[in-house]
Amino acid sequence: MNPARNRALLTWYDEHQRDLPWRSATDPYAVLVSELMAQQTQISRVVPFYERFMARFPTVESLASAPLADVLGAWSGLGYNRRARYLREAAVQVAHHGWPDTAQGLRALPGVGPYTAAAVACFAFGQPVAAVDTNLRRVLSRWHGRELAGAALEEAAAGDLDVDRAADWNQALMDLGGQLCTRTPQCEECPVAQWCADPAIYAPPPRQPTFTGSSRQARGAILKSLVATGSASEAELVAQTKIHRIRVQRALKDLHTERMVHHENGTWSLTTDHRNPQGT
Ligand code: ADE
Repeated sequence: MNPARNRALLTWYDEHQRDLPWRSATDPYAVLVSELMAQQTQISRVVPFYERFMARFPTVESLASAPLADVLGAWSGLGYNRRARYLREAAVQVAHHGWPDTAQGLRALPGVGPYTAAAVACFAFGQPVAAVDTNLRRVLSRWHGRELAGAALEEAAAGDLDVDRAADWNQALMDLGGQLCTRTPQCEECPVAQWCADPAIYAPPPRQPTFTGSSRQARGAILKSLVATGSASEAELVAQTKIHRIRVQRALKDLHTERMVHHENGTWSLTTDHRNPQGT
């Protein structure tokens, strides 16, 4: 760790941090909701969804006992709807067994990967762990002057972590990566430029397929229809979504594999969670 650099970054963060509704949250549920929403989604898009979702499902118990259709309805428009189902399944587990309070324990929850587990452990439970996402990867690669990945990245993130202010440190790096240390870095404004080895390093994030015409778009449209109508035949879904039958069939197959929908007597409907019968 470099104390002068860390102080400079944290001072910048104190003055310039983005005003996000979950920033000061120490409730693990609020942190989990915000971090799952933020995956693959721009932060500015997340904010209104987060506020509506938390108003609708303010506690882990309220989410655990909600029907999946209501949860998908509140998520609708954010995309990657599997996240909503995982979030609800995680809420059911937590409502029964309580919160795991280590990053390792959190990883056992549905939909929670290493980044999200570290974020919850750090922001909610105060543990000094680095939450490594693509922003951190880019920033740390530039600081260290080589494209970091895997164990080397984890090691660098742990070594740089400011353990006295770990939650602020992680979020400061996310803000730096999101605002200044972007694909085309604005080094003139960077508070830690003097400690940076190579600002030209750019590790591109995995490419996201374009949305229009994708299976993701068809899946989202089908779920929206099923949330609104409860159940529908394939022909009705084709009419409601105005998507070609072949694409609707493919998307239904994917949704079925993902256990988002089920099929009975020629009718498709949202999967209910058998472990939570009163919630369906
Ligand atoms: N991206 C994902 N989580 C974030 C957070 N807590 N703050 C800023 N950017 C983020």
